Amino acid sequence: MQNVVDCKEHMPKADTIRLRNKHIGKSCQLFYKTDPLKIVRGQGQYMYDEEGSRYLDCINNVAHVGHCHPKVVEAGSRQIATLSTNNRFLHDELVKCAQTLTDKMPGNLSVCYFVNSGSEANDLALRLARQHTKRHEVITLDHAYHGHVSAVMEISPYKFNQPGGDPKPEFVHVAPCPDVYRGKHRDCDYPEGTDMGQLYADEVARLVEGSRTGVAAFIAESLQSCGGQIIPPKDYFKKVYKIIRDAGGVTIADEVQVGFGRIGTHYWAFEPHDVIPDIVTVAKPMGNGHPVGAVVTTPEIAESFASTGVCYFNTYGGNPVSCAIANAVMNVIEEENLQENALTVGKYLLEQCRSLRYEYDIVGDVRGTGLFVGIELVSNRKERTPATKMAKAVVDRMKNTHKILVSSDGPNDNVIKLKPPMVFNAENADEFLYGFRECLTYLENLEKAQQTGSVEARSVVTIPVPATGGLCSLANSTISEKREKLIKSV
Ligand SMILES: Cc1ncc(COP(=O)(O)O)c(C=O)c1O
Repeated sequence: MQNVVDCKEHMPKADTIRLRNKHIGKSCQLFYKTDPLKIVRGQGQYMYDEEGSRYLDCINNVAHVGHCHPKVVEAGSRQIATLSTNNRFLHDELVKCAQTLTDKMPGNLSVCYFVNSGSEANDLALRLARQHTKRHEVITLDHAYHGHVSAVMEISPYKFNQPGGDPKPEFVHVAPCPDVYRGKHRDCDYPEGTDMGQLYADEVARLVEGSRTGVAAFIAESLQSCGGQIIPPKDYFKKVYKIIRDAGGVTIADEVQVGFGRIGTHYWAFEPHDVIPDIVTVAKPMGNGHPVGAVVTTPEIAESFASTGVCYFNTYGGNPVSCAIANAVMNVIEEENLQENALTVGKYLLEQCRSLRYEYDIVGDVRGTGLFVGIELVSNRKERTPATKMAKAVVDRMKNTHKILVSSDGPNDNVIKLKPPMVFNAENADEFLYGFRECLTYLENLEKAQQTGSVEARSVVTIPVPATGGLCSLANSTISEKREKLIKSV
């Protein structure tokens, strides 16, 4: 049971804002900049503000097994009360964590290095790749984000392409994001049945050919989250991995956002692509809010890294507290069947979101797997014109009117992203759908009213309140192939 005694705010919200403005770097972003939230407590899939208002959290993939899961809290509390030290001492939690993590990996991904964050994990992955291949050049995907430390900022177009970002180094090559809806190669521009995976893989092949000193690594999220919840086309990764390996490079799968069962069908998001990476990086969900991450690789790559004679030491990476927490998280995923939950609830959520395309012209592509869903808002479906302003309005209204937290992302910031804690259930999906439909109806009415010069939009919209147990309607909600084609054709 959560201890709610310490959930009170320590000062009025206005003072928190004043102190934050004074002492916290201006570049540290807040959600909902104009009216930021002050969250004082989290439980399961909910967050609570200083006034006790409850918000449905569809943003926090970090709180993977639910905010403040009692078993995770207990494991961390017990261990911090017993011992917290560095990994130069033997400790059972460390080896148990490495064993569980590697047991979940295919192939001979059997060696772990523990770190404190996704950034550190990707930074170390680059070091391993470069040491193993004795090369430096890296291929990354457009719109990718791999972390905030210098070496990974260099491979994060999401950051370096912003106005004011540091220029891309010469040793970094950016391949088009394999986004068949909005990317360089759009499905609508090619005949049906075109091998879109090949088109995007060819782009990588061209970069490999053009590299001056040879490519050390190809790094990509298994499903790109910062790019706007992108599902790569069939066989893309298979083809790319072959190209990279044939050229003597190694492959890195960034599972920092998408790992640990989120996609429902598999534990790792690279698995449905039928590939085995050479290096996998994990973090965020691994600690359910506690800073812990890892790099998992093969004995061969680990051997190359060791052969330099330079020891790897990380003061906090792999400390017993972090490992006890990560062990508890992995246990809870199993005990509570959270991967299965992501599969069932995610399927329902995705199908319901897809059916919104028959009600709202603004809903363009809807894609996802498990509890990883993206909804593209477009002002012109045929042209796929991003409805960026509308996406922001939806995010704000979802919070203010419905107390539901969602975010927008993608190169045009028009993709509504859903990546809730894995305890998100069918009722939560219905709650989201109800709020989302109300927002779309309200904002469409508002837009029409503004265009026709009406005094005000209808502020009351009639959307039926969802019946509880949304999964009951799953069978009826399946979109027929014919209707699917109809939508694709417009
Ligand atoms: C795909 C991906 N990789 C790496 C990172 C960096 O992780 P961290 O913020 O834990 O350093 C992030 C963070 O958002 C991420 O989304």
